[in-house]
Amino acid sequence: MSHRTETIVRERYAAGAKERADKLCCPVDYESEYLKVIPQEVVERDYGCGDPTRYLRKDEIVVDLGSGTGKICFIAAQIVGPKGKVIGVDMTDEMLEVARRNAPIVAERIGYANVEFRKGRIQDLALDLELLDRQLKRNPITDAASFLAADGLAEELRIKHPLIPSDSVDVVVSNCVLNLVEAKSKRLLFEEIFRVLKKGGRAVISDIVSDEEVPEEMQNDPELWSGCISGALTEEGFLAAFENAAFYGIQILTRDVDPWRTVQGLEFRSVTIEAFKGKQGACFERNQAVIYRGPFKEVLDDDDHRMERGKRYAVCDKTYNLYKKAPYQKFFEFVDPIVDVPLAEAKPFDCSRTSLRHPRETKGKDYDVTTEANNKCCDGGSCS
Ligand SMILES: C[S@@+](CC[C@H](N)C(=O)[O-])C[C@H]1O[C@@H](n2cnc3c(N)ncnc32)[C@H](O)[C@@H]1O
Repeated sequence: MSHRTETIVRERYAAGAKERADKLCCPVDYESEYLKVIPQEVVERDYGCGDPTRYLRKDEIVVDLGSGTGKICFIAAQIVGPKGKVIGVDMTDEMLEVARRNAPIVAERIGYANVEFRKGRIQDLALDLELLDRQLKRNPITDAASFLAADGLAEELRIKHPLIPSDSVDVVVSNCVLNLVEAKSKRLLFEEIFRVLKKGGRAVISDIVSDEEVPEEMQNDPELWSGCISGALTEEGFLAAFENAAFYGIQILTRDVDPWRTVQGLEFRSVTIEAFKGKQGACFERNQAVIYRGPFKEVLDDDDHRMERGKRYAVCDKTYNLYKKAPYQKFFEFVDPIVDVPLAEAKPFDCSRTSLRHPRETKGKDYDVTTEANNKCCDGGSCS
């Protein structure tokens, strides 16, 4: 897809901001209690395909990519509450106009204002397009020299006044937008989502995916592209894009059984994916072990730890702590060493060691305690 197609996307959604366009949406059941305070013109101009807000929590800082008329932001505002914050990003002025006009109405109805809308392209979340607009009005592009100067200015704005700063967001959500980003910018888009998230943050993205690769002639059809069809990644490619951008713990939260549309035999359906940021960092040895509980015979994580069910594995402090949190904690048992190794005294983890951890490593070589039966287990002779 070229910039011409991006213009077609912008024009199609500019029209969709002014008047409801049926073909652009895939019906979604949002929680009705949250819709009550949202003005009708926002609710009816719904061009989503899923509901990532179901996975948000109180007090979180949320960015919504391709926020349209603002429905997802206004739902999120109520879930995260007055201590949370929601930022909608969209590149289409007409969408931003509707969203911004309705924000004070929602704020008044819920009793606090925690939503704002910013203009930007979601594959370039550092560049504030309104700041750039203002600067270009003062210094218009008239020749090659001013074009190059504008390019330099954009780079300066990205660094000095980023639209969304790095490591600043708890959750990036999006509803039916990633597919609209041109193929050559898709890698950048996932890298940008990763950049803006805090360590420990997550992406929860609803989008349209295809069951087979979309052929080139369909990709060149602007109508199909702006209609959320041709730019769709495959189900597999969508998950791989998160993996390639260094996310971990990636999972499918929802997947529609019925396709939204079928075009030339290719099925396009809605999925919601969750992916976490934060597996990067130093690995220290604190003699901790984990046991994969099952039910699968074996698992492989995003750092290539392969674990068989029921066996004790040596993990570094970083992995141990990752496993103690979502989405992993329910799959593991945790074995702490009897004598704690304080982090400040811990040595770097030896990645070439055997992957299994002998119980003597967590207990200590000289451990020879003998105890009576633990009452918690066999109380009054009954072991039930
Ligand atoms: C299918 S609509 C979804 C709108 C909204 N998420 C919803 O649930 O109704 C796509 C929205 O993404 C915006 N959009 C498309 N491509 C974009 C891009 N590269 N950067 C920023 N916004 C984009 C469009 O302007 C439009 O508002």
